[in-house]
Amino acid sequence: MKFTDIKALASVQGPARSVSERLSRRCYSIEDMRKLAAKRLPGSVFDYIEGGGEDEASLRRNLSSFDDWSFLPKWGSVEHQTLGSTLLGGPVAMPLTLSPTGGTRLFHPDGESAVARAALAAGIPYGLAHLSTTTMEAVSAAAPGLRRWFNLEPTADKGLLQAVLDRVSNAGYEALMVNVDCRAIGHRERDYRNGFTAPPSIKPKTVIEGALHPRWALGFLANDAIAFPNLDAEIPEGPLSSTPDMWRTLLAGSYEPTDWDDIRDLRARWNGPIILKGLVNPRDAVLAAEMGIDAIQVSNHGGRQLDHMASPLDVLPEIVDKTAGRMEIIVDGGVRRGSDVIKALALGADACSIGRPYLYGLAAASQAGVTHVLDLLSAEMTRTMMLLGVSTIAELREEGRDLVRHRSEAFTPTHPTETPLAELAFAEMRTP
Ligand SMILES: Cc1cc2nc3c(=O)[nH]c(=O)nc-3n(C[C@H](O)[C@H](O)[C@H](O)COP(=O)(O)O)c2cc1C
Repeated sequence: MKFTDIKALASVQGPARSVSERLSRRCYSIEDMRKLAAKRLPGSVFDYIEGGGEDEASLRRNLSSFDDWSFLPKWGSVEHQTLGSTLLGGPVAMPLTLSPTGGTRLFHPDGESAVARAALAAGIPYGLAHLSTTTMEAVSAAAPGLRRWFNLEPTADKGLLQAVLDRVSNAGYEALMVNVDCRAIGHRERDYRNGFTAPPSIKPKTVIEGALHPRWALGFLANDAIAFPNLDAEIPEGPLSSTPDMWRTLLAGSYEPTDWDDIRDLRARWNGPIILKGLVNPRDAVLAAEMGIDAIQVSNHGGRQLDHMASPLDVLPEIVDKTAGRMEIIVDGGVRRGSDVIKALALGADACSIGRPYLYGLAAASQAGVTHVLDLLSAEMTRTMMLLGVSTIAELREEGRDLVRHRSEAFTPTHPTETPLAELAFAEMRTP
């Protein structure tokens, strides 16, 4: 090769000009973002994001259930491709939402406001946790045009409930996401082993972890203390200082609907859409539809609550069959690829939702990190649809089950007269 040929081949990248560019060069998947978040956060804080209840069987199954489905692409033209769709009567740029996560400012001081701005820029809704570390009003102010939903921890105390609903409505939240899987707090043993509390209490281990993660420690120390300000007005004891404290207080105050009557009551009180979050039982899905609930988020809380709870994807086909289009269906738990979203939509979901993936982005690089996660998922969805041979979300949902096959369903032999290989092998063994 001549020197000029070598020179033509040489490609030296200059330094990245922005955080987004740096992320694009370094992180090609949610897994890459997960690894980056693991570097940025103290181990006990990262484990708080990662962990699940007890033996983490629900958590593992959420991830593996997507591998049970394979694609059956169809050949044909793909034109005017778009991920645009609708949810609860409004437009979404892609069939994805951001799920509520309590304690978000623990992972990056920009917390919920950064997540809200990234969701707004991506054109998708964000469900703010009742247990958020930023007030619902501040999140509204940070991203005024955002389609925002409020993740209500419902209470049986109707006076208190009405006060929260009024506040949520005044702050411009269009829908309620009502938790129905938090009667008790999941037993997350990683947190107990790590001595983790939210906010972190200062112990020798915390000091060492902070020293090893100075960027996180500085952000944590230089900003407002972690608190749960949406609850300040509601809990007479005043601001709560730790997650166990908060749960004890919430549960003692019967902060969960005791039965379906509370849901019926909520339906009568709230004029906007209601999403029930955290059910996997088809019977409950049917009850919700009968009660005029607008949508359900089929979810096992990311495997953080009841262990060995069914994976949302495993129960989705039955829920879709039994509810027969009477309400919208969002699925969360284990979505780590755009292709996971496409599988869930092919099985009848209207959208998917993510928790941990956007927290990895936030921990890695604030709003730019969340945006990078959403860009990755959007690009993966687009590519998957292109390779599957579908142009639009409507077409994907229409073709639905013809595009995916569960591993338990036998693939029809390509040639019906073909002798199965195993039989041939036996015949050979029997031939003297
Ligand atoms: C750190 C963390 C905090 C969470 N906090 C809440 C919460 O306050 N309310 C809620 O309904 N779900 C909460 N979730 C569950 C998510 O909303 C969502 O159901 C779950 O994360 C989806 O699974 P994925 O993380 O595999 O995407 C939390 C999840 C995580 C990881």
